Amino acid sequence: MNSKLQFEGWLRTYGERSELALERLLDAANTNPARLHEAMRYAAQGGGKRIRPLLVYAAGELGDNASTETQAALDAAAAAIECIHAYSLVHDDLPCMDDDDLRRGRPTVHKAYDEATALLVGDALQTRAFEILANVQCDVNIRLEMISALASASGSRGMAGGQAIDLDSVGKKLDLAGLKQMHAMKTGALLSCSVQLGGIATQLHPSQMQHLANYSEALGLAFQIVDDVLDATADSQTLGKTAGKDAANDKPTYVTLMGLDYAKQAAKDLQETALASLESFGPKARTLKDLALLVVNRGK
Ligand code: IPE
Ligand code: IPE
Ligand code: MG
Ligand code: MG
Ligand code: MG
Repeated sequence: MNSKLQFEGWLRTYGERSELALERLLDAANTNPARLHEAMRYAAQGGGKRIRPLLVYAAGELGDNASTETQAALDAAAAAIECIHAYSLVHDDLPCMDDDDLRRGRPTVHKAYDEATALLVGDALQTRAFEILANVQCDVNIRLEMISALASASGSRGMAGGQAIDLDSVGKKLDLAGLKQMHAMKTGALLSCSVQLGGIATQLHPSQMQHLANYSEALGLAFQIVDDVLDATADSQTLGKTAGKDAANDKPTYVTLMGLDYAKQAAKDLQETALASLESFGPKARTLKDLALLVVNRGK
């Protein structure tokens, strides 16, 4: 079997496994209050590329992942990080933030339901993520480390802090360092946390965790640069979200500040940095390499 087919098979297998983990770990849609639980499922299960769960599983291949406990930890980490991501999108789309009507090819949560429900969906998906990690049947130290990593990546020094910088920067000209910091926090932090969770679950050595951190730092920044490029170059139907929104909202992005060619080249350079960071892992890192190529060369 050639490696492209192998990776496609891997994507199908672990994409389905991510869906199953979410299906199992989210409350049933008819749980009281049904409107909130239904909307949580609408937000978390409505498609999406599942890049973060895939990164959890791929990083999990670097260490010893044979035990049932480790597999349960990986499933919990995959579902938890996707719950945080889905919450971040629901809030990102609210009128007080990016004011978007379309997400994953469907009306955003505040359009399909209402603003108050969207706020509560975000709140409840966030706490569900930590509940999932707290309850997983694995070593208590692994559980605690995963909770701590997810909390710092999601909060004011991570995703939420990056979103604050993003909102504060509307109409402003950030310099390149400021732009990098915003992207690293609002998007890079959760991407990095995904591979970190896979590493914690399989108890990688600190030096291996450092290589992984170098990989994900480059990949996280590349991910948001590509998102900026696609916002300017792809159409809404392909993206499943409103194209051209960054320019319309006067957001500082790699494209609006540095230009399209610079942005594309920066993403390519970061791809190379990410790939080089994996060298010491040998063939075990093949899936992480393929995911880096997918992230940088994606069309949506
Ligand atoms: C979109 O993330 C928001 C960013 C952080 C750039 P994704 O592009 O991963 O969105 P989905 O999960 O595939 O919908
Ligand atoms: C989103 O950045 C980052 C987070 C949701 C944390 P964007 O605002 O660029 O994401 P999209 O383009 O709406 O998906
Ligand atoms: Mg935004
Ligand atoms: Mg947005
Ligand atoms: Mg965007």
